[in-house]
Amino acid sequence: TDFGQGAASGKIILMGEHSVVYGKPAIALPFNQAQITSKIYKTDKEITIDCIYHQGELNTAPDNLYGIKQLINIVLIYLKQPFFGIHIKIESNLPSQRGLGSSAAVSIAVVRSLFDAFQVNLTQETLNHFVEIAEQIHHVNPSGLDATTIAFGKAVFYQKDIGKSVIPLRMDAILVVADTGVKGLTKEAVSDVKKLWKSNPNIINPIMDRLEELTNNVKVFLENNEVVRLGLAMTEAHQLLRSIDVSDDKLEELVDVALKSGALGAKLTGGGKGGCMIALATNMEQAILIADSLKQSGAAHTWFYDLKEIIT
Ligand code: PMV
Repeated sequence: TDFGQGAASGKIILMGEHSVVYGKPAIALPFNQAQITSKIYKTDKEITIDCIYHQGELNTAPDNLYGIKQLINIVLIYLKQPFFGIHIKIESNLPSQRGLGSSAAVSIAVVRSLFDAFQVNLTQETLNHFVEIAEQIHHVNPSGLDATTIAFGKAVFYQKDIGKSVIPLRMDAILVVADTGVKGLTKEAVSDVKKLWKSNPNIINPIMDRLEELTNNVKVFLENNEVVRLGLAMTEAHQLLRSIDVSDDKLEELVDVALKSGALGAKLTGGGKGGCMIALATNMEQAILIADSLKQSGAAHTWFYDLKEIIT
């Protein structure tokens, strides 16, 4: 039996992906429809891990687990435990590399399980601290939006270097989340946008400014249940994101299909160039129609997200 457990959900970026990297605000929601769990077992051997990428000694894990390996190391030092004698089992129904925050979620689940195993109280600040380290290793220079939203588990309005506030959401609508089935290339997308920004600041800066305006507007729409306006803002944000070249053919197709199936708005979510998209529906009946059309157009998976159910 395990002697420590931790779990974390994913996240959805509603508004502000990419512009958040340039100091603009973003809005993200916890994605409780999918979860990552981490369980700790005692052994008398080197540290071992069991996850989709690797089963066996942590020391021989592939490069994509480098961040997690470092994180486990740092946490064990903090907890004054030897790098020895535990087995870590990670399970997930949150697809990875789809802009749903699986890397931050796995880090948070692991940190929670290790603190639970060694019965040390884990504060929000300590959790944030460790997860930011892991995200730095994983993503080089992340805005911190994923880590904040997942560690906090609430709808957040977030600005880099400034911080977060919780949005008192009052929205009677359903989000349909669809996975294109294509791996999102967040790192590439972020570095391509940086190149564009460096070579054409006069074009990119106004786009970032407009995304900022839309995000600020959406915060008010969420607080006042202005569903139609939220939809329009989402679609406009998508067009702006496409204009900085972070969309792709599949995302374009799914956004198009969602709008033609009656969605009030639709956009890519997360880093783009693959990954997921979201569509806004007035009610569950419409959401089901939209999800069916998305699946017929090749979406690998769809989820329903009732915005009424977000705890704020
Ligand atoms: O693809 P994701 O879910 O990791 O989201 C990336 C969000 C960006 O704004 C593109 C990058 C960032 O660091 O915030």
